[in-house]
Amino acid sequence: MALKKMEDLKIDETERITVDYVKGILQPTPTCDTWDQIWNFQAKPDDLLISTYPKAGTTWTQEIVDLIQNEGDIEKSKRAPTHIRFPFIEWIIPPLKSGLEQANAMPSPRNLKTHLPFHLLPPSFLENKCKIIYVARNPKDNMVSYYHFQRMNKALPAPGTWEEYFEAFLSGKVCWGSWHDHVKGWWEARVQHCILYLFYEDMKKNPKHEIQKIAEFIGKNLDDEVLDKIAHHTSFDVMKCNSMANYSSMPTIMDNSISPFMRKGAVGDWKNYFTVAQNERFDEDYKKKMADTTLTFSF
Ligand code: A3P
Repeated sequence: MALKKMEDLKIDETERITVDYVKGILQPTPTCDTWDQIWNFQAKPDDLLISTYPKAGTTWTQEIVDLIQNEGDIEKSKRAPTHIRFPFIEWIIPPLKSGLEQANAMPSPRNLKTHLPFHLLPPSFLENKCKIIYVARNPKDNMVSYYHFQRMNKALPAPGTWEEYFEAFLSGKVCWGSWHDHVKGWWEARVQHCILYLFYEDMKKNPKHEIQKIAEFIGKNLDDEVLDKIAHHTSFDVMKCNSMANYSSMPTIMDNSISPFMRKGAVGDWKNYFTVAQNERFDEDYKKKMADTTLTFSF
């Protein structure tokens, strides 16, 4: 187990953003303070929204979507960093431009990003029947990835020790709330709304197939060669070296030397972190919290 090593890497809490609650969901304080504006965001019918629980494969999906829209043109996808190409609607870290400001200044058709649980999604997305792509990741890998992300990202609270983080994640006391409620809420919503529900693990197993699914959903018919090109360009190893997709462009917020944004990109890394006791505790808790859904995950 790498636990001892991770504790040694605890980082200074004093530089971190503070957090508060919006309707019971933990959020960075600036998001709480501007919640009314976020809730009243005016989506347009041709907006495409990518929604995820943090660390479920958002950036990967964003890169895929951008390349599909640009028919595999790599140069076009490198026109700007991910966070500029896809305004993150509830994101606000003064003095940087907020996600709302960015979105409002963007010409249509817009690509947008959110981590909001379904019940906190600004209603205009549903009123305008916007297409939404939701990506879910198995919670064990999701938790490990989120832990490392909170270590390196000053726009989130420091995670504490792995043991502390494990408990915080299980009780939903992390930003954007409970993983279980998030994936279940969006899963139920997909029945009534225009939501393509994808899984990180499927994208790893058969990227080309999932890329084809996304292309179909957004109404693009791409030939095999372009699909192969997109699969290659959005593979972990290629994206890790792409400065427009690896979050190396905001070093004052994300410190890639603590833990790289493009960390491992693997399924099953949780086995390197969960103790046997944590795994048992997790499984028991999971069974209870997921008893009321048809949603299943591969670990
Ligand atoms: P790990 O920390 O497990 O490596 P998000 O974009 O939602 O913040 O998710 C980040 C996670 O997705 C990180 O997981 C990151 O490495 C992984 N990821 C990013 N691009 C990927 C890709 N092309 N293939 C596989 N995983 C990718």
